[in-house]
Amino acid sequence: MSEIIKSILNRSSEPKLAEPAPDAAVLEEAFACAARAPDHALLRPWRYLVIEGEGLDALGRVFERAADSSDPLAPKAEKLRKMPHRAPMIIIGIARHQDHPKVPAIEETLSTGCGMAFLMLALEARGFSAMWRTGPVAYHPAVREGLGLEDNESITGFLYVGTPTVNKPTISPAEPKDFVAHWPSA
Ligand SMILES: Cc1cc2nc3c(=O)[nH]c(=O)nc-3n(C[C@H](O)[C@H](O)[C@H](O)COP(=O)(O)O)c2cc1C
Repeated sequence: MSEIIKSILNRSSEPKLAEPAPDAAVLEEAFACAARAPDHALLRPWRYLVIEGEGLDALGRVFERAADSSDPLAPKAEKLRKMPHRAPMIIIGIARHQDHPKVPAIEETLSTGCGMAFLMLALEARGFSAMWRTGPVAYHPAVREGLGLEDNESITGFLYVGTPTVNKPTISPAEPKDFVAHWPSA
């Protein structure tokens, strides 16, 4: 089996992440992989924010603005403030929507998402792990504003990044026969 197939089949998202986070050289390589995402019309419709150290405290204060005390089901302010500290580094994937006659916004989001998947695989290849998260904070106007998003940008996800502390039990994979068909059928 090829190395790349092995690494895809064996990848897993790890919720419990500790120091160390990737260094500058590992990040440079991983972002170069992200930039190889399929990209209709080569719009490069993505950008990334890397947050660590005191930046995680600042991100917590931004997340806290998404609290809604009138909604009993919404996450509480304190929980939101602590969220970024679930990993030593967070990488935010942002899709940048350009007005292109042949490329709808969904394709720019897909491209950014593909880049995030490549980024995760590249980080895993260097011994790190990541977990892709969204939740209400990914879509809340106060979070968008706090992170300086332009009107034409959207958050594709927060990659929590670090070194895995425990290995999650393996998830039994979906079987290709359950989700693949040939068309038209015989
Ligand atoms: C766009 C997107 C958003 C996600 N948001 C969350 C989230 O907010 N919380 C969460 O626990 N998992 C979230 N996940 C799922 C996890 O990242 C992960 O894929 C899932 O736990 C399955 O684990 P595995 O990747 O090891 O198969 C999200 C995945 C994607 C692609």
